Amino acid sequence: MSENERLSNINPNELLHVISALQFKHEDLLILFELADKIRNIAETKAGLDFLRTILSHKRAVLYFAQPSTRTYLSFNNACQILGMQTSDMRIAGNSSEAKGESLEDTLETIHSYTDLLIIRHIEENLAEKAAWMYNNSDRPIPVINAGSGPNEHPTQALLDAYTLYRAFKGNIKNKTIAVIGDLKRGRTVRSLIRILNNFEYIKFIFISPIVLKIPEDVKSYLLKNNIVFEESDSLDSCIKTADVFYYTRIQDEYDMLNESKAIDYTNLYLNPEYLSKMQKNAIILHPLPRRAEIPPDIDKDKRAWYWKQEINGLWIRTALISYIFKVDGYILKYK
Ligand code: NCD
Repeated sequence: MSENERLSNINPNELLHVISALQFKHEDLLILFELADKIRNIAETKAGLDFLRTILSHKRAVLYFAQPSTRTYLSFNNACQILGMQTSDMRIAGNSSEAKGESLEDTLETIHSYTDLLIIRHIEENLAEKAAWMYNNSDRPIPVINAGSGPNEHPTQALLDAYTLYRAFKGNIKNKTIAVIGDLKRGRTVRSLIRILNNFEYIKFIFISPIVLKIPEDVKSYLLKNNIVFEESDSLDSCIKTADVFYYTRIQDEYDMLNESKAIDYTNLYLNPEYLSKMQKNAIILHPLPRRAEIPPDIDKDKRAWYWKQEINGLWIRTALISYIFKVDGYILKYK
């Protein structure tokens, strides 16, 4: 069974679990973008925040993060709280009973006993999907959101990336050239980004990386199968003057086998004043963060640097996503 088929089995007609960026359809995205805009607007006043806090005050969430996280954890935790949910944390693998030899299945079973929503980040690629299967086959199916599954996927990062493009380009995402730079081999945000942007027409990707970090074969086959135009390069020269988006990523050295990242020289791709001077006036620079030296902090002042706005967008789109999953989106949209 292909990944697509497995996922559509999990989720035939509606968004309950969010396991892969392949699940988002164009119409889901437009609803979520509009909902996120509406929620951030409602949240500007105390009355609005008080209203939002009543929406899911009868629900609880577990945030099970067994890989490091700052933004994804904080934005999900705050998104839950904005909607009035109670949250519990399981933040380090070593803190839960995994350390006492409990199987991951038993851990998932236990989480199910105590919550209405699981948000999970784990190095094991299929764990979120496994949780979704287990919960679907229980007497109380509860939603599962994948907040990062090893080097494989990060669907809600893709959602906030697409939402950022929607805001930056005033609703018009199609017909854009997107340069994706860095560790394209192991960066899960890249795989999810490509999948989500398949919902928009005439997107062209330019993948720029050191040779050893090129996009993997499965991503290439996906691009070819879906007729998505792309080029590969190891330099920025061919696209620095023409790309609409520069999506940077860091080297994902946590997945090294033998410290091999130490030998990789990525410095020729680091953003610098010379590159900035060649970029289009309306181009935007994105980064899922955390960054290392690929974008020096001096560049934050440039009005094309959108990564801090991108980070904030994560809070609102995740709040929208949780509302959508619990089907309270219509209620929120009616708020005056
Ligand atoms: C990304 C991740 O965890 O994949 N971070 C994030 O969630 N914003 C990117 C990264 O760690 O490089």
